[in-house]
Amino acid sequence: MEKKASLKDIISHCKEYGFIFPSSEIYDGLSASYDYGPNGVQLKNNIKDYWWKSMVQLHENIVGLDAAILMHPKVWKASGHVDAFNDPMIDNKDSKKRYRADTLIEDYISKIDNKIEKEVTKAAKRFGDAFDKEQFVTTNPRVLKNVAKRDGVQERLNKALREDDLVELKNIIVDCEIACPDSGSRSWTDVRQFNLMFSMQFGALASEAENSVVYLRPETAQGIFVNFLNVKNATRQKVPFGIAQIGKAFRNEIIARQFIFRMREFEQMEMQFFVRPGEEMKWYNYWKEARMKWHQAVHPSEKLRYHDHEKLAHYANAALDIEFKFPMGFRELEGIHSRTDFDLSSHQDLSGKKLQYFDPEIKESYVPYVVETSIGLDRMFFAVIANGYTTEQVPNAKGGTDERTVLKIHPYLAPVKVAILPLLKTKPELTSKAREVFDLLKVITDCQYDEKDAIGRRYRRQDAIGTPICVTIDFDTLEDNTVTIRNRDTLEQERIAIDQLPNIILEKIKFPNL
Ligand code: GAP
Repeated sequence: MEKKASLKDIISHCKEYGFIFPSSEIYDGLSASYDYGPNGVQLKNNIKDYWWKSMVQLHENIVGLDAAILMHPKVWKASGHVDAFNDPMIDNKDSKKRYRADTLIEDYISKIDNKIEKEVTKAAKRFGDAFDKEQFVTTNPRVLKNVAKRDGVQERLNKALREDDLVELKNIIVDCEIACPDSGSRSWTDVRQFNLMFSMQFGALASEAENSVVYLRPETAQGIFVNFLNVKNATRQKVPFGIAQIGKAFRNEIIARQFIFRMREFEQMEMQFFVRPGEEMKWYNYWKEARMKWHQAVHPSEKLRYHDHEKLAHYANAALDIEFKFPMGFRELEGIHSRTDFDLSSHQDLSGKKLQYFDPEIKESYVPYVVETSIGLDRMFFAVIANGYTTEQVPNAKGGTDERTVLKIHPYLAPVKVAILPLLKTKPELTSKAREVFDLLKVITDCQYDEKDAIGRRYRRQDAIGTPICVTIDFDTLEDNTVTIRNRDTLEQERIAIDQLPNIILEKIKFPNL
C-alpha cells in the first residue's frame, strides 16, 4: 500500500538526498530562499531541457533568447508593473504579521473545501460500494450548506479582485471572521496595495544620479518584448513565431511560503508567441492544449486541470492556469495568457521606436498580438518531486516486506539515469569490470558508480533519488559479459549483454512522448 506524502516529508527528503537546501542555513536561513543541491540542479537542468527541446527544438518557428535581468527602468513603466504590479496586503494589529488579503480568503475557502471532502470520504466509507458521490453531494444538507457558503465567498472575492475593491476585501475577512493564522486575533488593519518589484540603485554614483533606480525583473517576458525587432530581424522569422526564454525573476511576495511554491527569487520558462491580430484565440487554444499535453507526458492527467481566470491582468484578454495537485491541493503551475498587443504597443509608445511587423501575405503592417505560456521552473520541480514521492512495501529476501521510499519520476527527468553497482566492493575483478561499464555509459548519460554498502541498501539509495535503472556487475559478468538491470518501479530484473546496454538504456530514458 502506498502512503500519501505530506509537505513535511517532501521537504525533509529533498534535504536528505541533496535536492534542495534552505539558503544560508548556517546563518539560520533566509525565509523562502532555497539552494538546489547536486541532485536538485540535475533535475532542474533536465526540466529546463525538456521544456527547451519541446519549445525551441521541436518548433521551427520558435527561437531562444537570454536577456539581461537588469533592464532600463522605463521597461517597467511601459509594461504597467510600476503602477499596477500590486498585491492587496493586510496586517494583523496584534501579531504584527503581514498577509495577502486575497490569500487569507482563499485559505478560508480551501478549509470549506476540505470539510466537504471529509464529508464525502466519511460517507464513501459508510456506504461502501453502494455510494453514489453525485447524489450525495447534491442532496446532503451539510455539504449543500458548505458549497453555498464557499461559492458565496468565492463570488465576493472574484468581484472584489476584479474591481480592485480593497474595502470589500477587508469586509470579507471581517464577515468570515478570519483570524490571524499566527495569533488567532481578528484585529485587522485596512487593506492596502503593495508593489511587488524589488528596486535597487544602479552604478557606483547611484546615490547622486537621477533616475538611477532599476528593478530586478518580476517576469522574464519583458526581455522578449523589447527584443522583438532584434530577434525578428536576426532570424527572419515570419508571424506566427515565438521567442522562448528561461531565467530568474524576482518578486517581493508579501508572504512567500509552501516550500518552493512561492519564492521571492525564482525561475520562469516563458514563451511569447507573436500572431496576427484577430488570430490570438486560435493560438491561445492551440497553446492551451499543447501545454497540457506537455504536462500529461510526465504527470498523471487526474493531477492536472485548467482554471480560467476571473480577474484578467491589465494586459490580457483571456487567461487560464494549468493547475497541478500539489500536497496543499490544486494550485497554479503554469499560466497561459492572451496578452493582446498591450506590451509591444506600450513599448512602442514610450520608446518612440516602431515595433511593427509587415505581413507579406496580407500586405499590412501591424503590432502583433501575443499569446504567452509561462511556467515556474521551481513549481514544476516541486510538482515532479511531489508526484514521484512514494512510500511503499516491497518484498525482501527473507520472504517478508520492507518499506522503501522511491521517487517515481519520468526517466528523462531523473537526476541520475543509471547506477553501476559491483556486487562486492572487496573483489577487485568485480570493481574493475564495473568501472569499465561505468566508463562505457557515462559518455551516454548521467551515471553514478556506487560500491559502498550491501546491494540492497544501494538500491534503496538510488530509489530515493529516482534512478530508473540499476546495473549490477556480479561473478557471471566475468564469465559471460552480461549484467543485471533492475527497473526502479517494477523491481523486475533482466539479464543482458554489456554491448546491448547503451541501446537499452537510451530507449528507457528517451524524450517524453508528446
Ligand atoms: N509573464 C507572465 C507571468 O509572469 P505569472 O502568472 O505571474 O505570469 C507565471 O507567473 C508563472 O511563474 C506561474 O504560473 C508560476 O509557476 C511562476 N511563479 C510566479 N510567481 C512565483 C513565485 N513567487 N515563486 C515561484 N514561482 C512563481
